[in-house]
Formats: sequence, structure tokens, C-alpha cells
Amino acid sequence: MFIRKLFLMFILLAACVTPPPVVNPPIKLFSSEVHQIPRDEQIRMSPDGAVASAHPLASLAGASMLKRGGNAVDAAVAASFVISVVRPQSTGIGGGGFLLFHDADKAKQKVFDFRERAPGRATVDMFLAKNGDYKDLKFDGIKIPNPAVDGHLSVAVPGLVKGILEVHERYGKLDRQTVMAPAIDIAEKGFDVYPALARDIRSRESVLKIFPASRKIFLPKGQPLKAGDRLIQKDLAATLKAISRLGSAAFYEGEIAQKIIAEIKKGQGILSAADLKAYKMIERIPVSGHYRKSRIVSMPPPSSGGTHIIEMLNMLEPYDLSKMNPRGSEYLHLLTEVMRRAFADRAQEMGDSDFVDVPVARLTSKKHALKLMESFNTEQATDSGLFKKVASTGESPSTTHISVIDKWGNAVATTQTVNYSFGSCVVADGTGIILNDEMDDFTTKPGAQNVFGLVTGDKNNIKPWKTPLSSMSPTFVFDESGKPLMVTGSPGGPRIINATLQSIINIVDFKMSPLEAVHATRIHHQWMPDKIYYERDSLDPDVLARLSQMGHKLDKMEAIGDVQAVVVGADGAKIGVSDSRGDGQPAVP
Ligand code: DON
Repeated sequence: MFIRKLFLMFILLAACVTPPPVVNPPIKLFSSEVHQIPRDEQIRMSPDGAVASAHPLASLAGASMLKRGGNAVDAAVAASFVISVVRPQSTGIGGGGFLLFHDADKAKQKVFDFRERAPGRATVDMFLAKNGDYKDLKFDGIKIPNPAVDGHLSVAVPGLVKGILEVHERYGKLDRQTVMAPAIDIAEKGFDVYPALARDIRSRESVLKIFPASRKIFLPKGQPLKAGDRLIQKDLAATLKAISRLGSAAFYEGEIAQKIIAEIKKGQGILSAADLKAYKMIERIPVSGHYRKSRIVSMPPPSSGGTHIIEMLNMLEPYDLSKMNPRGSEYLHLLTEVMRRAFADRAQEMGDSDFVDVPVARLTSKKHALKLMESFNTEQATDSGLFKKVASTGESPSTTHISVIDKWGNAVATTQTVNYSFGSCVVADGTGIILNDEMDDFTTKPGAQNVFGLVTGDKNNIKPWKTPLSSMSPTFVFDESGKPLMVTGSPGGPRIINATLQSIINIVDFKMSPLEAVHATRIHHQWMPDKIYYERDSLDPDVLARLSQMGHKLDKMEAIGDVQAVVVGADGAKIGVSDSRGDGQPAVP
């Protein structure tokens, strides 16, 4: 009797001290029925892992892999294939990306570069006419608006399929057929066009409609798809099925490769069958640095992202940000000045480190940060001209990021893209594959801005097999004990770097909740144009007045980035958060 009482008391006591279980709104795990977007909340948590991505179906596919016993790699690969079906404006198997993997068992990080590379026949002036202007290219008699951004010549050698399947083969637990099944199913049965996709089709309509295979998918009956229409991609489903059956060779060597090259030939492109066959993923050494008590691990060149995130954190470290107001002028001025200095370095110093010298160690050193901040004035904006280099500006939508942590503590951060919205706008006929326009991330014409307003220097000139400079910044933050604290990243061209940076500061310095850290307002400065971009209606008029009094020029933007993050809570819960700025929604197993 006494024992029973004791037992009951113990149970009662345990109920009082045990924290309430994490309750998530009920979610339907991936089902092969009609694919509606179950869009509601932007935060989900579980001790068993979380996936955050820019589309609910991709997160659900990832979470369903975790539920089946898969690890973070299985989840990220399943989510990648799904996102390539449901966000054709952002990414796809005709594109490329970067992936960071944290192996919990070995406590080691790996970095994989499966970004597109310049075709073997690429030349430094391949986009230029004799007079130095962009070439005048036509397709079916219709002028191609910008040959570096639109159409067949802008296509670089795609790396996504090789990359994610190789990473999966090395680290995944489930088989390829399982992780690819959700994407095949969604491509085959279709999904509902969501408002942002309809908007993005409209905004690229004039180029999409030049190319017959693209027209067939995105402008059936001559009209752009509308929100609520069903997008069924039979050819893409067949392509994915072949890859699922045969592996990446099906894409790079088989019938699919032949169809891609047949398409490229229709439009004066230079991508060849030999280029596809020769594509290799590159494993690189991550960039890392310490920021206060955290360790940051991120993407090295050919991305500029990781290097500049660490460079900016180094510049911020001497300041006690936790005492500042995250929406106040003191912090926003400091942050702007830090961004100005890092982006000036980006314009001059960055390129593919396999081809040019990139001084990563110097740029990420504390000494360099201190030197750059010698000219910092707490009351006055610094003249961008002080950092005389080459110039840059704003950008537009595309690209996507996926963050995952599994129950074992393995983590994946991957940012993937076809570059500009719908890439080159060319679909390889009979494959359903949107081909990227990543060549535009090179310096295509000396001094000219790319589609995101960026100007890069000679270090980013085109050469066969070189990788164009990127801003994509998949990033890990580790706590003092070496455990993952945050997995983060964003799309947004140059804004990727600053959006990712601010998501980290919000966690590490301002101790915001994961939801606040991702949703809080952001600013962007990229040295040139010399402007602070801020999100519409997000800052106090007094703060704006003070910043302009300090000599800053201000400009409004709708949104800066679309961060997808997983943060580990104090109780070990993996908390997935999707940005309120986008269409994403996290999922848990
Ligand atoms: O690699 C890069 O930096 C670009 N191709 C990314 C483009 C991008 O993020 C567009 N998104 N808004």
C-alpha cells in the first residue's frame, strides 16, 4: 500500500516537473492524394527533428523521411526533389546548389559544391558582339531580351542531380527510390498553383512564351497559369522516374542528356554532351569562425556568403549588441557600416578559388575586421567611395533554402537555384526540366550589372569549367558544446548574405525566439548603390529620420530574404521556422 502511494506521488510529482509536451497543430504527413497546400503556421517543433523549406509539400516530404527512420540527408534530398517540382521559378534539376552536412557521430562538417559550371566551350566574351555590347540573339525570329539571362546561351552545366544523389549515396539511410517518390508523385498528379507562382509566371511571361516547351507547361492555351490551376508535369515525372531507377547517369548520359543537348542546339547554346558527362561535384573545406561563444560554419568560395558572414560577425563582435535595440538607429547604423565594408570586399576579392586567388583567411580574420572598422564613425555614414572598387545593386526573386536537423543531431543546410526566376526560361523539350541561367553570375561584360544589379571584377571572368561567384550561404551555428544551435539560409541574391547574418544575430545576440528571429524586420546594404534598403513600414519614422541625419540614403523594399531555419531549443526540441515573407512552412516527423 505504502509503495503504491509512493508510486502515485512520484507520478504526480513527475507530472508537475516534466515540461508540457510540445504540441503541434495536427499535420498531414505526405500523402499521395491531392496535393493541396496545408498552409497555416510557420513554426513546428519536435524532439525528433524538423525540416524548414519554402513550400509545405517539400517540408512534409522531408519530415516523412525522418518519420520512416531516415536521417537529415534523406530528408533534405526528398525536400530538394519536391521543391524542384513545386518551385520551378526558384530551383530545379536543371540547376545547382551548395549543401552543408553536419555528421553528429563524427562531429564533423562537410561542404558540397554542386553548382553549375561554365561549359567547356565558354569564353570570356561569349555574350559580347564585336562592338562590346551584348550579342543580338534571336529564337524563332524573336529577340532574346538578354542573352546572359534568357535563353539557351545562358545555361551552365547543371549540377543538382549529381550533387544531391552523391551526397545521398554517401550519407543517406533510405534508398534513392524512397527519397524521390514524393517528387515523382507530385509531378505526376500535380499540385495547386499558389499565388506567388502565378505571379512569378506572369512576371517572366514574355520570355517563357518565346520557347515552345516552356509555353506548353506554364502558359497552356497561351495564357499564364493562374492561382488555383493544377500544374501537372508529366515529362518531369518521367525524367525523375528515370533518375530514380538508374541514378544520376540517366540525367548526365542517357536519353535525358540527349534531349537537353537537342534543346540547347535549337537556340545557339554551347552546353555539350561532353560537358554533361564530365560534370563533377566538388567537396570543399567549409569556412568557419568564432562569434562570441558560437562557432559559425558556412559556405566557402565559389560562394561569397560564408566568408562575408564571418567577416561581418567579426566586425560586430567588439560591440555589445545585446544592449542595443534591434530596431534602433544605433544598431542599424552599425550593421549598415559592417555590410558596406564586407560588400566592398565582395566586389573586388571574390571568385572561384579553383581559378583565382581568394584571400579567405585574411577576409575572415579578426585583424582585417578591426582594420576595416577603423573608419567607422558612430554618428556618421561612411562614404562608400572610401572603399574604391567595382560597383553593385538590388535583385529579384528565385532560389530556395532548406534546413534540417534530425533526432540524432545530424544537420543539413542547402541552398539551391536555377538563378533568375525560371532560370533561362528554357525547358528542354520532352524532359520537363527548366534549364538554369547561372552564366549571368559571371562577369559577362566588364563593368555591367548582372540581373541582380551586382558588378563583379576580373576574378569572376568566364573560363571553361569555372564556377560563377555566388551569394548562397547555407550556414550552421554551433553552441559552446559543439552541438548544432541553428541551421539557416535564404534566397535573395546579395540579400542572402545579409538575411542569413541577421537571422544569426537575432538568435545569438538579441536572444529572440526562433520565430521572432526569422520574422523580425531586416535591412540590406551592399556597398553600391550606397543605400540602406529597409522593409516597407517596418521601422519607426524617428529611426529613419535619425539614420538619414547620419548621412544614410534610405530605400524601401517589400521583403529582404526568405529565411528557412531550424533552431535547437534548450530542451533539445528542433524548432523549424519558415519566413513570413514567403510561402514556406516547416514540418516535423
Ligand atoms: O548564386 C547566387 O548568388 C544567385 N544565383 C542566387 C540568385 C538568387 O538568390 C535569386 N533570389 N532572389
